[in-house]
Amino acid sequence: MSAAIIDGKQIAAQIKANVREEAERLKNERGIVPGLAFILVGDNSASQMYVRSKGKACEEMGFHSVTETLPADTSQSQLLDLIRMFNHNPRIHGILVQLPLPKHIDESKVIEAIDYRKDVDGFHPVNVGRLVTGQPCLRPCTPAGVQELLCRSGNDPAGKHVVVVGRSNIVGKPVMNILLQKQKGANAVVTIAHTGAHDIAEFTKLGDIVVAALGKPEVLTGAMLKPGCVVIDVGINRVEDKSVTSGSRIVGDVHFASASEVAGAITPVPGGVGPMTIAMLMKNTLDAATGVLYA
Ligand code: GUN
Repeated sequence: MSAAIIDGKQIAAQIKANVREEAERLKNERGIVPGLAFILVGDNSASQMYVRSKGKACEEMGFHSVTETLPADTSQSQLLDLIRMFNHNPRIHGILVQLPLPKHIDESKVIEAIDYRKDVDGFHPVNVGRLVTGQPCLRPCTPAGVQELLCRSGNDPAGKHVVVVGRSNIVGKPVMNILLQKQKGANAVVTIAHTGAHDIAEFTKLGDIVVAALGKPEVLTGAMLKPGCVVIDVGINRVEDKSVTSGSRIVGDVHFASASEVAGAITPVPGGVGPMTIAMLMKNTLDAATGVLYA
């Protein structure tokens, strides 16, 4: 069996086209241009690349965006001051502090300083609480993207057993909290398997849908899957590959070749979940600008 490929690039393009249209209408009808502020601390090259591509997406959407790049030795209070300034700036509807931050800065203090109505990452405790209790809120972009990928590829999670591998606050836990809500596009039975399990395969084999978010290259193999299941690979890992000129390539947390022999559908890496994260960030920024979630 060879799995159907779930095309994240194409689904992300549909979502972005929608957001662009809605943004145009918001501008014409209410004179509001969604604005997103990026804050980048230090010179992590992956973070720089992510912020650049998010900024480019803002341009495509017709959004206003600003990027503040601060040196690695910026103090926590300087960073908090900058956040407060954006909290009060009426042209800015979303604030994204790119993670990770330098070690001397307390990440949770930074997240809590962001006005939760501008927290387009969905990391603020108010948004986490609202997500868990099923209230409207800004939701973490990658997990929201996982839900969109499932629904828009004809794999509605309702009534299915979703096995999430990984319990991070950025992916694993919010994927669980999104998919188990008694709501449209959710209502799944969700299990989280993680490094505390003696044998992860014991759980993944039960999944109608398996969401891989372990952060390790190609560890989820076909032998660990139920035939015909849907596999969503959240991993982005750079591995050495001497056969290519760059010397490395990007792989997911799933061993694609073996998994696609067993699964019914699977997301590729790159071109699966990755593009969805940015699309959902654009959607969150639009929602923050309209104010619809906290009316
Ligand atoms: N670093 C890696 N992923 C993310 C994310 O989703 N948001 C932010 N702000 N930083 C990240």
